[in-house]
Amino acid sequence: MSKNFPTVGVIGAGQLARMTIAPATALGINLLLLANDASDSAAQITHHIVGDYRDLETVRAFASKCDVVTFEHELIPLSIIKALEADGVVVRPSSASFLYSQDKAAMRERLKSFPSPQSWVVTDAAQISTYPVIAKAISGGYDGRGVWKVNSEAELSAVMRETGKILVEELIDFDYEIAVMVARSPHGQATSWAPTQTIQRDGICTMTISPAPLLSEELSQKAQKLALDVAQEIGVIGVMAVEIFVKGEELFINELAMRPHNSGHWTIEGSLTSQFEQHLRAVLDLPLGSPSMTAPMAVMGNILGGDKTDMYRPYLHLMARTPTLKFHYYMKEARSGRKIGHVNLLGNNLVELTQEVQHALDYLSGEIDE
Ligand SMILES: Nc1ncnc2c1ncn2[C@@H]1O[C@H](COP(=O)(O)OP(=O)(O)OP(=O)(O)O)[C@@H](O)[C@H]1O
Ligand SMILES: [Mg+2]
Repeated sequence: MSKNFPTVGVIGAGQLARMTIAPATALGINLLLLANDASDSAAQITHHIVGDYRDLETVRAFASKCDVVTFEHELIPLSIIKALEADGVVVRPSSASFLYSQDKAAMRERLKSFPSPQSWVVTDAAQISTYPVIAKAISGGYDGRGVWKVNSEAELSAVMRETGKILVEELIDFDYEIAVMVARSPHGQATSWAPTQTIQRDGICTMTISPAPLLSEELSQKAQKLALDVAQEIGVIGVMAVEIFVKGEELFINELAMRPHNSGHWTIEGSLTSQFEQHLRAVLDLPLGSPSMTAPMAVMGNILGGDKTDMYRPYLHLMARTPTLKFHYYMKEARSGRKIGHVNLLGNNLVELTQEVQHALDYLSGEIDE
């Protein structure tokens, strides 16, 4: 074994860590995961330590085996990241950046000079007088959990009985939502992928289309510049998703995720450098890879847990029907509504691509009989 190849420590062992294994293997980079459980998606197939990411001594012991520590979720307490940094551990992204993916109120405050919805941190529902608005848990939300459209002071009070202090945002009546994935290295090298349109149902992303088909070339350039400027402003290292609302010619930043993201899953086959490989390059301060697309268009569909239990048999029909369709299955328990895999399809006919991906999703969810 060559001694020079570094070890990247990833806190978390879900599907994002799982999809990082293939590029790490190709590059010869060692991965070590801090898993909650040996049955976690990525812990099933690569080196890991089982432990609680909320326990400083556990995380310290883990970090001592790694050359650089990074994350695949936002749940690790900022105090632990700061303690690692004080120990001299290389943590990427740093606590100073990561804060803005953990704390939506801090993010809104920091990005005030960037185009964003108006927002207020509210401790008493009486502080808000115009409705409807969007109320958001300041930390810990995902897949739309922790986000409420509220129509009245009474509704806001009801939500706040659960959450306490909350972030209230102007409701943007957007035309559609995009995400721009960017990567930035300690050297300051930065790249962006083509903006991706994200399509959500019940607060969960179901499909993405890249490049975002409704976005003009001018707006696409503007969105990429915006995401790269945000990356520079907060000094993020690694891959970051900048979720953006598009309304006419206007862009509004929704939120940031500082790790590979669902909006970048299409890059596995759709780009010369996937978001997972780019994240490894960035946190190791290697030169970044080309984010060019490998096809004119890439459509990704999320497979959500449902009634179907045998997820292997559907390969027969779907692989025979669409030989170009690519499958990514996470080996997670198929709890209802949970993301358990995705499919990617590349080509140049958007109608055909979305129809084929939708067929695959319907078939995998059991909405079409075998
Ligand atoms: N200010 C807003 N105006 C209009 N719609 C909004 C606003 N903020 C959020 N939304 C809607 O709610 C969805 C979820 O919000 P947000 O992305 O902040 O939450 P999340 O649960 O952290 O998301 P994720 O699923 O990306 O983890 C957005 O994708 C958008 O559809
Ligand atoms: Mg979001």
